[in-house]
Amino acid sequence: MNTKRQKSMGRLRRHPNVILHTLRTLPALERAIADFHGRRETIALVPTMGALHDGHLSLVRIAKRRADRVIVSIFVNPTQFAANEDLGTYPRTFAADLEALRKLNIDLVWAPAVTTMYPSGFATQIVPGGPAKAGLEDTFRPHFFAGVATVVAKLLIQCEPDIAMFGEKDYQQLKVVTQLACDLGLRTRIVGAPTVREKDGLALSSRNAYLSPGEREAAPALYRVLRECAGAIAAGKPSAGALRQGREAIVDAGFVLDYLEARNAETLAPLESIKGEPIRLLVAARIGTTRLIDNVAV
Ligand code: PAJ
Repeated sequence: MNTKRQKSMGRLRRHPNVILHTLRTLPALERAIADFHGRRETIALVPTMGALHDGHLSLVRIAKRRADRVIVSIFVNPTQFAANEDLGTYPRTFAADLEALRKLNIDLVWAPAVTTMYPSGFATQIVPGGPAKAGLEDTFRPHFFAGVATVVAKLLIQCEPDIAMFGEKDYQQLKVVTQLACDLGLRTRIVGAPTVREKDGLALSSRNAYLSPGEREAAPALYRVLRECAGAIAAGKPSAGALRQGREAIVDAGFVLDYLEARNAETLAPLESIKGEPIRLLVAARIGTTRLIDNVAV
């Protein structure tokens, strides 16, 4: 490691209470990044839509271990919500988010306005293929991955990170973003991080806040069924039978099922029964007005 970088890391360690800067304009972001580059510091980006919970914060903690500087972006991206979805009511807890990041000694939050990301006249969209057309989330949210791909490409270009962290919680999104970075030849390495769960197994999600007490009680069934199915398939049970039982159990728990599928863990293509093929089980289901997604490895 060169001396400059050693010095800058030493400085960070000696002053754990770094000041958190919230940047809202592109020139301010450009200056901060030029500064980091000037000191040869590595950068990790953690893209979020705010309403931060321990799942998000786990990505931040991993990012801190892997790079000298961590940028957390907070931007509720309108282009990934359909007209009938929850853009208007999506939880916004900016002050609490900043407080949580301050406690983790994060020094930079990128929180652009919608007009900064999408100025009037904005006319370009990235429409991803491959894992974005796997017939999972894309079937139920056809607009979603073009919105995600466009905003993530912009964030990666703006922040020029060495790595960017994405949760396995949104497994199809992780695969779409990995493919995007590869196809566009971006220098950023996409890093996946494990799903953080409540004690009863429910994956942490900003949308869990919408659940009524009764729905919250029923919600852990999703993860329980995923694990039972994964166990059965790993023990040699044909996936079709295991999935059929799993689908019934999810409906019995009070959900309206969008999908429960077993897919190739890398491509998200349907299984080809190749021995040793890596398998991922993915589920999406609605309870009341809340839509939950989850997934596990087999
Ligand atoms: P958001 O839902 O805020 O999630 C931000 C990141 O946190 C994503 O990478 C997501 O997978 C991860 N995450 C969410 N819940 C998690 C959990 N329980 N455990 C671990 N990681 C978890 O995903 C988005 O925002 C947006 O689509 C975004 C990528 C920011 C583009 O707008």
